[in-house]
Amino acid sequence: MMRQNDTTARIAHVFSGTFVHSTLQAAVEILENCVLGVDDEGKIAFIEKDKDLVSLSKIWGFETSDIKQLGQTEFLMPGMVDTHIHASQYSYTGTALDLPLLEWLNTYTFPVEAKYQDLDFAKNVYTKVVRRTLKNGTTTACYFATIHTDASLLLGELADKFGQRALVGKVCMDCNSAVPHYKENPSECKEQTDRFIKELLKKEYPNVKPVVTPRFALSCSASLLSELGEIANNNKLHIQSHISENKEEVKLVKELFPECKSYTDVYLKHNLLTDRTVMAHGCHLTDEELEIFHETGSAISHCPNSNISICSGMLNVRNVLKHKVKLGLGTDVAGGYSPSMLDAMRRTLDTSKTLTIQDPQHQTLTFEEVFRLATLGGSEALSLDEQIGNFVVGKDFDALRVNVCVPDGPIDLFPGEGTKVLLEKFFNLGDDRNITEVYMAGRQVVPFPET
Ligand code: GUN
Ligand code: FE
Repeated sequence: MMRQNDTTARIAHVFSGTFVHSTLQAAVEILENCVLGVDDEGKIAFIEKDKDLVSLSKIWGFETSDIKQLGQTEFLMPGMVDTHIHASQYSYTGTALDLPLLEWLNTYTFPVEAKYQDLDFAKNVYTKVVRRTLKNGTTTACYFATIHTDASLLLGELADKFGQRALVGKVCMDCNSAVPHYKENPSECKEQTDRFIKELLKKEYPNVKPVVTPRFALSCSASLLSELGEIANNNKLHIQSHISENKEEVKLVKELFPECKSYTDVYLKHNLLTDRTVMAHGCHLTDEELEIFHETGSAISHCPNSNISICSGMLNVRNVLKHKVKLGLGTDVAGGYSPSMLDAMRRTLDTSKTLTIQDPQHQTLTFEEVFRLATLGGSEALSLDEQIGNFVVGKDFDALRVNVCVPDGPIDLFPGEGTKVLLEKFFNLGDDRNITEVYMAGRQVVPFPET
């Protein structure tokens, strides 16, 4: 596999060894004895199996001495895609998980998010969340920030600086906040959203883009939802929000929007369900609502740690996939207590197994399927699958170099274990110590450069 007649591209990296990724056909494809070249624009130039390195180096014009040879316990995998994370909630991650959603928002979340008018506070937390997630292998993050335009722009600047692909959302909310100074009036919200989009696009960061972000139906008036739908559609922007996370929320949405048939119908009526929309949770969506997701091409971000941590519900991922709805995984920091996508993968399997305990007819997800959801699935959910998600010639090289056996690491290996076992052990037991290098669009971003 290589780009035809394109031998002019300069090769910036060449890796040789084992690569693991997902395709539409195979949840996990293991490519052994492969060589992968990345061009100087950060794109995958070639992937060749069982080829002679010397002849490849002549065709592509690289030195064989520049080849990065992966060891026996190493493999390369696509970077992980966190389809839903609140950068602004990172400061209290791992705490405050003792209340259900609506009380949790008013008690813990809104008071903390209100602090982001202070740019020093924002800079400290946003630097830490970008670095922590990158180090844990999140090469793409779909972020909620806060209502503050300047702090949200700063999050975009930091993602660009550290080399994380990101969609960044300035949060929009004009009602139902128990913290009086943490909401906007509708005209201010529209103005600030326009400014946020304009200023972020003006920076021309190659891999950081704005996402229109109504917090959720309970935080937004009907007119604000309409305005945001219009802004997103006029500018062909991504949209993110929350849907059907917890039963109390679903009930209140029905009361507040009596003219709408369902929670999904609220977003549909305000033109917020597009093929660039990702909605977090969806635990309590009906089959009818899932059909609307399928028809509109909207995606679901499955956030299992959060769903369990604040007792929201359990999403039946198998049923979502049966409806051919795009689905990725999210950490939902800080409703979810872990910023690691490896945790999101494990919690996805736990939830699937819990559903099987409740109903033995339920078809449990395999770890391979969950691996796909964290990589290719996430790229589909964010409509970035033409650019990222797996190792295909022409896509951006977003990748993790994984070493399952590192000194003082969390994993022990035993003789005779093949790549599939290495992958499964990394999936279940690995952590950031095993992620020795991270690349985004061909740029090595972990280990962090010394500053
Ligand atoms: N619904 C509305 N806002 C939020 C939030 O910040 N976190 C979660 N988990 N759900 C929400
Ligand atoms: Fe969330």
